[in-house]
Amino acid sequence: MSYSFQIKDAAGYQSAYKKSVSDPEGFWGDVASSFYWRKKWDKVLDWNFKEPNIKWFVNGKLNITENCLDRHLGTLGNRPAIIWEPNDPEEHHRVITYRDLYNKVSQFANVLKNNGVKKGDRVCIYMGMIPELAIAVLACARIGAIHSVVFGGFSAQSIADRLYDANAEYIITCDGAFRGNKDIPLKSVIDDALVGCRFVKKVIVATRTRTPVSMLKGRDVWWEDEIKKVETMGNPDCPAEEMDAEDPLFILYTSGSTGKPKGVVHSCAGYMVYTTYSFVNVFQYQPGDIHFCTADIGWITGHSYIVYGPLAAGATTLMFEGVPTWPDAGRFWDIIDKYKVNILYTAPTAIRSLMGFGLGPVQGHDLSSLKVLGTVGEPINEEAWHWYDEHIGKKRCPIVDTWWQTETGGVLISNMAGITPGKPAHATLPLPGVQPVLVDEKGVELEGNGVSGNLCIKHPWPSILRTTYGDHERCRVNYFATYENMYFTGDGALRDEEGNYRITGRVDDVLNVSGHRIGTAEVENAINMHAGVVESAVVGYPHDIKGQGIYAYVVFGQMHGDEALTRQDILQTVTRVIGPIAKPDKIQFVSGLPKTRSGKIMRRILRKVAEGETENLGDTSTLLDPGVVEEIKNGKI
Ligand code: WTA
Repeated sequence: MSYSFQIKDAAGYQSAYKKSVSDPEGFWGDVASSFYWRKKWDKVLDWNFKEPNIKWFVNGKLNITENCLDRHLGTLGNRPAIIWEPNDPEEHHRVITYRDLYNKVSQFANVLKNNGVKKGDRVCIYMGMIPELAIAVLACARIGAIHSVVFGGFSAQSIADRLYDANAEYIITCDGAFRGNKDIPLKSVIDDALVGCRFVKKVIVATRTRTPVSMLKGRDVWWEDEIKKVETMGNPDCPAEEMDAEDPLFILYTSGSTGKPKGVVHSCAGYMVYTTYSFVNVFQYQPGDIHFCTADIGWITGHSYIVYGPLAAGATTLMFEGVPTWPDAGRFWDIIDKYKVNILYTAPTAIRSLMGFGLGPVQGHDLSSLKVLGTVGEPINEEAWHWYDEHIGKKRCPIVDTWWQTETGGVLISNMAGITPGKPAHATLPLPGVQPVLVDEKGVELEGNGVSGNLCIKHPWPSILRTTYGDHERCRVNYFATYENMYFTGDGALRDEEGNYRITGRVDDVLNVSGHRIGTAEVENAINMHAGVVESAVVGYPHDIKGQGIYAYVVFGQMHGDEALTRQDILQTVTRVIGPIAKPDKIQFVSGLPKTRSGKIMRRILRKVAEGETENLGDTSTLLDPGVVEEIKNGKI
């Protein structure tokens, strides 16, 4: 497969960019023409950011799985679509060709239908990184059901919240998941989430760990048994449901600055076109290359660059069940050597954690197959960038620093491997179709180079979010109301003298911990659920490996036992309410929080103290009780 829209050199980037701005409809219409449509669109784009109402490829009809599977069968049927590396290196890996994947997706799509799932139904998927996860996602898309994948590290309570929010009546899960030396009992977490929940009709359970599970009669069924049933029915094919370009493809929940995660909704056609376009161009994918994205499919990176983008491009995507440090810190390098991986796409936090093990684990592995390296999820510091460049890429692989978000669906700002130059710690230039602007607090656009401000985008690209599930107003207020006629990213950035963007981090109350987005308000709500907690305030602080750590200031009532035990209790509460990923790294007990006379918590002061700053705390004269600041400074952990 060759890609008519693949950019080949710097001049090609310039001309594509120019055309995408002067004639966005002509530009994206050309790109979209290389996909398979049941019916072509009437108009490329209809939009306003006011409501917002954004429609790409108006009245086009398609099914994304026909683009990811059916259309490749003739040419790539025997090529590997998914290579799966299990958690335990001793266990056999799996290679799933495009033909196999087509068959498995069709079969499981029939299982979904047999269990009553219909177009438009929401299906929650809570699984480990096994091929069945990708199959489940694609099977939903095949029949037009809307998948909502929930990362395996979220708690029963978080799952329940997401089930209610989306009114998801179907769940696909596993008995358990292997991650390093752990065995996570996923089905049992689902059972907890479903206590008292009456609207879930079916839970389909795939076998992985064969840890004991409870199977409720009438509700819970085994994946394998259901497959057998459709096998005996004969015809394994499942015709793809015809979808409108703007029908929702999936919901993915993400944290914002308010307490409740938002269900970001992506549509079928725009998402497909943009993830494929960005996949091919950013990584400069060449037919036959093996692409290894280390993310979990529970996050947007896995959706876009393990599943949909690579498969629509007919690529070979490598899916890894385990963790980078088990059985040892050479696991990534081992996998690259074993499969002769060409593209490695990972997170700065993983690079920093592996750096900490020194060069020993890297040595003895042949990494010469690598052509392109990528990072995503958080700003990459220069030290990690250079280590990645020298010791992994051996100074011959471009590093693409890809900036994007759950809401953007695909990479918006990044260099393109070997086409446009990289620069340590800079995401560099916008992709064609992306028009970034920096604005000041008042929304005034900052022109020219060498400026910094809040990062906005002023024209829609095909994979922009369409709404937040069940609450369109929330989508408008969150993303389109801060600055008129612009999508607001929530990130700050600076544009250097050459026009390269450097993302400086969130400007709202959202933390980025190991590349995971966590709202401070969400963590505070969780801490406050502990019976003894009166009040709390959560801020981020620089963390060597995680990028940001979570620092919690807690006002506590009556302690049971000592402080250390109480801290453990609070961590346990957060684990129960959100999941282990949101556990604070530090908890400081305080007698009060610094508040203004109107009762607003002065987070600026808390942030500074958590960052280790004790001198220049700024103006504290408006505080109700300036005394608490001294206490907080003295008690810093
Ligand atoms: C941050 C992940 C700097 C940013 C794809 C953004 C980055 C948030 C980069 C989105 C990068 C992502 N450089 N910061 N290359 N990539 N971010 O929704 O703050 O999980 O707003 O999407 O991660 O996180 P999300």
